[in-house]
Amino acid sequence: EAAEKGGYQHFMLKEMHEQPKAVKDTLSPRVDDENRILLDELRLTGEELNHFNKITIVACGTAMHAGLVGKHAIETFARIPVEVEIASEFRYRDPFVDERTLLIAVSQSGETADTLAALREAKARGAHVLTITNVVGSRISREAHDVFYTWAGPEIAVASTKAYITQVVALYLIGLYLAELKGTMTRQQVAEKVAELKTLPEKIQQILDQQKTIQELANKQFNQQSVFFIGRGIDDHTAKEGSLKLKEISYIHSEAIAAGELKHGTIALLEEGTLVVALATQEQLYDKMLSNMKEVKARGAYVVAVTEEPRAAEVALSADVVLTIPDTHNEFTPALAVVPLQLFAYYTAVARGADVDKPKNLAKSVTVE
Ligand code: AGP
Repeated sequence: EAAEKGGYQHFMLKEMHEQPKAVKDTLSPRVDDENRILLDELRLTGEELNHFNKITIVACGTAMHAGLVGKHAIETFARIPVEVEIASEFRYRDPFVDERTLLIAVSQSGETADTLAALREAKARGAHVLTITNVVGSRISREAHDVFYTWAGPEIAVASTKAYITQVVALYLIGLYLAELKGTMTRQQVAEKVAELKTLPEKIQQILDQQKTIQELANKQFNQQSVFFIGRGIDDHTAKEGSLKLKEISYIHSEAIAAGELKHGTIALLEEGTLVVALATQEQLYDKMLSNMKEVKARGAYVVAVTEEPRAAEVALSADVVLTIPDTHNEFTPALAVVPLQLFAYYTAVARGADVDKPKNLAKSVTVE
């Protein structure tokens, strides 16, 4: 097992460090030197695309969080309505799914029982099913009409990291592909986005290089009883993923909420020293986030902000600690902002002496409903 960990203390740490390569491997076969997208796995004509009146994404846990990011990207790029459903809820509410639905089932393992059941339900109702999965030949890949493989390589740690990032990248590619096909973006606009996607591996590496700073932060904060993650827009999705990561491996209670919802209840829980992780990467929501950060700081919270480098100095005025990510397009920040949160969850769990790769009560793939 030590050899398999390649010198890292845990699989999770190794897998976080494999993220630049995982993103590159997922992107490279699908984009060419002129930044054109080649999606062999989803060969649709414009007419076939127009036949769909919506997209439904089904998934569980971290894969569902990737779906939320995907919804934002597809709606922004291709202007097609997307709903994201927790796979375990999907079948029990007579869903609006028919032959005009493109259903995307996201699953690292391709074996999650609820996601498979949702896929079957959608197929039975006539939907066209595309899956995004990391395991070749998995059950979900065998039952879907089309398969988009993420090339993250085997993910051993229960806490999903590199698979998440590649799912997000897969959904970016699908969103851009659909946008060009539908004509909501020009080839040139798509090429600009693809060029930016190609920079993500290097940018993820730059964040991984800051791991010492994040470890020091975790070593100071690991005794928290409860942690809150806040964000607006797509930052809210990253907040959810950061919160899930922390709770599943460190066993600290944590919650993610849309920052605007704070004053509708959750702010009552803040005490002197409560840790609040604030995501502030969205340009158009930036001022609103700064005021949320001030709001929680005024109630005694210890605020750790995640923002893009150019804004670090300004954000520092409303936070106790600022973790930076390299500048990127608004839609792509989830692929970067999640990395400091993964590292924070990891080092917090290590500081608490938890079994990082095999947290209690959890299985790598949940094959029962
Ligand atoms: C992530 O860290 C979790 N362990 C879990 O939420 C996982 O993402 C979920 O069970 C879905 O698994 P899948 O992607 O293999 O379907």
